[in-house]
Amino acid sequence: MGWYFRHYAERVSDEKPVKVPTTILLKWFAKLLAPMKLGLVAMLLVAIGSIGLSMVTPYLSKLIVDEGIMGANMGSLTFYAVLLALAAVAQWGIGASRRYLSAYLNQRLLYGLRTRAFKHLMEIDIQYITGRPAGRMISLITNDINAIGEIVTSGAIDLLINASTIVGALSIMLSMHLTLSLAVLSVLPLMVVVTYFFARKTRSAYRETRVKISKLTSSVEQSVAGARVAQAFTKRKNIDFSSFESVSRETMAANVRATLIFSLVRPSLDAINALVAAILIGYGGMLVASRQLTIGTLIAFYGYVQMFFRPVIMLTTFYNTLQSALAAAERVYSFLQTQPSVKDESYAKELEIEKGEITVENVYFSYGSNPVFENLNLKVRPGEILAVVGPTGAGKTTLANLLMRLYDPQKGRILIDGHDIREFKLGSLKRQVALVPQEPILFNDTVLENIRIGFPDASDEDVKRVVASLGLEKLIENLPDGYETVISPGGENLSMGQRQLISFARAMLKNPKILILDEATSSLDPYTEAMLQDAMMKLITGRTCIIIAHRLSTVKLADRIIVLDHGKIVEEGTHDRLLRRGGLYAKLYETQFGAPKLTAKSEAGPLESSSR
Ligand SMILES: Nc1ncnc2c1ncn2[C@@H]1O[C@H](COP(=O)(O)OP(=O)(O)OP(=O)(O)O)[C@@H](O)[C@H]1O
Ligand SMILES: [Mg+2]
Repeated sequence: MGWYFRHYAERVSDEKPVKVPTTILLKWFAKLLAPMKLGLVAMLLVAIGSIGLSMVTPYLSKLIVDEGIMGANMGSLTFYAVLLALAAVAQWGIGASRRYLSAYLNQRLLYGLRTRAFKHLMEIDIQYITGRPAGRMISLITNDINAIGEIVTSGAIDLLINASTIVGALSIMLSMHLTLSLAVLSVLPLMVVVTYFFARKTRSAYRETRVKISKLTSSVEQSVAGARVAQAFTKRKNIDFSSFESVSRETMAANVRATLIFSLVRPSLDAINALVAAILIGYGGMLVASRQLTIGTLIAFYGYVQMFFRPVIMLTTFYNTLQSALAAAERVYSFLQTQPSVKDESYAKELEIEKGEITVENVYFSYGSNPVFENLNLKVRPGEILAVVGPTGAGKTTLANLLMRLYDPQKGRILIDGHDIREFKLGSLKRQVALVPQEPILFNDTVLENIRIGFPDASDEDVKRVVASLGLEKLIENLPDGYETVISPGGENLSMGQRQLISFARAMLKNPKILILDEATSSLDPYTEAMLQDAMMKLITGRTCIIIAHRLSTVKLADRIIVLDHGKIVEEGTHDRLLRRGGLYAKLYETQFGAPKLTAKSEAGPLESSSR
């Protein structure tokens, strides 16, 4: 695999090289193929027919030559010639069905695998996805899965056909003429050595190209995602294309190297084949001349020899394809085996949240080595509006993530109405608890659909009603195509305020019992600000709300404020009481909310100067 692979593996070191035993992969293949039993049986029948026919053909040639031509028997000549023609027609039909069947089965397998991988991607831990370049996942779902498809369906049948052809042809050859067979088979060691040599070379070349393709996809993906930022910071002509260029060049080099090896394989094997023909004509010709062999038998023998060596050659290429498919299968298999840490527990049920009381009990949570929370305790009364404030990195978003079960705490538990949230089916929890994230996440779809994502069963009227209830009709009217306005990827064509408002509508549509709002830190124009404030008021009434607050106006809405610092609740109370206490809250207020007195940024200015 050479320098390239090691180099790559070092740079993207999070990906431990997966080693999955071949037996496990084979069992997995068998499981994947199980639902296609019928198609595979049809394939098998077609294959048997194909082998049978090809075994018969050279023998027919022998009969034509020996009986028809040499024996000058017009009747049998015509008879066998007609049989030969019929065999050709049958072979045509069988060949066509074999191709169709294998393409069909291949596509069905690909479809199943792709869907499964995509579904898995949606269920797996966010940590797993965010920790890897998106391009690698894309490459896995496209390139790697394609490589598996080729081998598992057509590959398996080809293997079977080739193996039986070898056995069949060899037994016929041996029974026809032992010494002639042995003479021809003398080239077999040469063939094996050449095959083995190329197999090793192509295997590493294959692996290399696959790694490069995945790297190239990652690079393109990152460049596309970063293009806007890159162009904002540098003049276009200064943008550094060298890293993409070098990945692209490596991909080319790897492919050219693989092609070079491939271009040597066929000619080498063809040369060996020619050697076989020479032996056959030389020694076989002698046998015919000395009347130890009929000319028809020699011709038929030549047919069987061809039949014997072609699958041998094909098996060598099969071996290479198998290697590359196994490498791809290892990746896909281990991806599908990665269990999400957050999943429905066996005892999970559809539970209704009646009151909306939240209890956080002795929660310990850590993303990696350093814990964010060591022993967090918190109680939120039904219908209470709780504001959470604290410096950046205090753990506010993490708390929201835990409440939504994006992660599970390592110790302790979180209860809603006295039920551990793990007793809820994930779907049931997510239907009743809404999260408005710090950064609104919008999809490349219409405004209507972006809102509906919160509750897919909602009708167009439901969406419009919710928008009206938040007082946002104006906002939608101002968009170029109203509800049908297509949001560009990442929401680029909307202002920050508009994105947040859409995010509000999405949460409102669920009519959640519990709302978690991670307020955005971006400052907005006074008009949008007022609209947002207004909408937020309407959004929070009548539910239990945890608002991670960055604005003074929001904090003032709250029944109670908690101050989080380094994962601990250091202060708790109302705005006025906390201010009088003169602790961290007062300090945050002075440095950040306090700003309105010093600058023109108004009360709505962000509580914190920066966010992560
Ligand atoms: N996905 C993650 N993987 C690893 N560490 C994380 C992850 N998300 C957050 N952290 C870490 O956990 C701690 C708490 O982060 P969190 O996002 O909860 O802070 P926050 O209070 O929401 O900050 P901000 O006000 O800037 O949004 C930080 O030290 C952060 O570096
Ligand atoms: Mg945060």
